[in-house]
Amino acid sequence: MFVETGESVTDIPDPLIPTTMPPLRYGALQLATRYSLSPLAGFTNLPFRRIVRELGGVGLATTDLVNAHGLLSGSRKSLQLTETCPEDSPFAVQIFGNDPIKMRDAAQFLEARNVDSVDINMGCPVERIAKRGSGAGMMRCADETVSLVRSVVDAVKIPVTVKMRLGWDDTQLTAPKFAREFEQVGVAAIAIHGRTRAQGFSGSVSRDGIRQVVAAVQHIPVIGNGDVRTVADAAQMLRETGCHGVSVGRGALANPWIFRQLQQWEETGSFDPPGNFNERMELLKRQFGYLEELRGTQAAAIIFRKTGHWYLKAMRVRARLRHQFQLARTRAELDAALDDIAEDGPVRGTRTGILPQMHVPVPSGPVERW
Ligand SMILES: Cc1cc2nc3c(=O)[nH]c(=O)nc-3n(C[C@H](O)[C@H](O)[C@H](O)COP(=O)(O)O)c2cc1C
Repeated sequence: MFVETGESVTDIPDPLIPTTMPPLRYGALQLATRYSLSPLAGFTNLPFRRIVRELGGVGLATTDLVNAHGLLSGSRKSLQLTETCPEDSPFAVQIFGNDPIKMRDAAQFLEARNVDSVDINMGCPVERIAKRGSGAGMMRCADETVSLVRSVVDAVKIPVTVKMRLGWDDTQLTAPKFAREFEQVGVAAIAIHGRTRAQGFSGSVSRDGIRQVVAAVQHIPVIGNGDVRTVADAAQMLRETGCHGVSVGRGALANPWIFRQLQQWEETGSFDPPGNFNERMELLKRQFGYLEELRGTQAAAIIFRKTGHWYLKAMRVRARLRHQFQLARTRAELDAALDDIAEDGPVRGTRTGILPQMHVPVPSGPVERW
């Protein structure tokens, strides 16, 4: 279930900090910008990655988390998650698992398929993953985790990165220690979501906690993550933590133009507004079209429901019409639903003006029950 949170409102500082920073590199891989798409299971599939890349500003996009065992045993779902295309570059696949051999083999499997970088998931708080010692569960077994990460790094030439939280809970803020050890075993970059596992998505991101991870490493880049929805949020993340890049998850669902805005801000000091109602409608159709090419209309309609919800909320479409779109399964039903939405327009704002900023929802309830 999702609940709505408030919007962030801050002044946008000048881009002094990013323009004085060197370009972001993961080992030998130089990224075009310091802004990356954070993995979001169920959302960051190839069609969405293509869309944000077409809009511009994305330095790196990563898949949803992929089960290393599933990948090696030929699971269709796992393989589909790693689908890519020439425009989807540079491209990282995020793997999870608690078996060092499988994690190593999965990384080699991906390297052989020309993936640019492998990311190890150490942040997933979901009970069924963490309790088996994968995802955030890895933060509870330090020695095994460092040795697993080392075996993955040693097995491939492509950069290996790690994405983690600040620690298991407030009493175990282990991310700085892990970051230091990961750098020593050859990890190319660390992405850090500034919350603990116990926090789930509650409370606010601790930029101080992220800053401590930045301070713990010597050379590798640290990517700050969490609650970045606007250019002002990213500026604050860079300024207050000293991080070298920023990754954006839910903020990109609400505003797929955010990476382009960040790049424009960094290069010129100002940036264009996000897409308006008409542009979002065009984007929705394009993304759905990419998904339809991969899966066919009916399956695409089902898979697209969650993403469609974000689009239509951001477009300020009335609930009845959102519902009609969600129930559509055939091409004719989809076209009819989209025609009705286009005719009705947004309930707040105009078709061509800046729409009111969307409230970005968070997964709610105790993390144990997600
Ligand atoms: C629906 C959803 C799915 C997520 N899936 C993943 C995932 O597969 N791998 C991962 O490392 N993090 C995952 N995350 C965490 C995000 O990558 C990110 O760290 C978190 O949402 C905070 O960043 P944000 O505020 O920019 O969204 C997920 C978060 C959400 C809300």
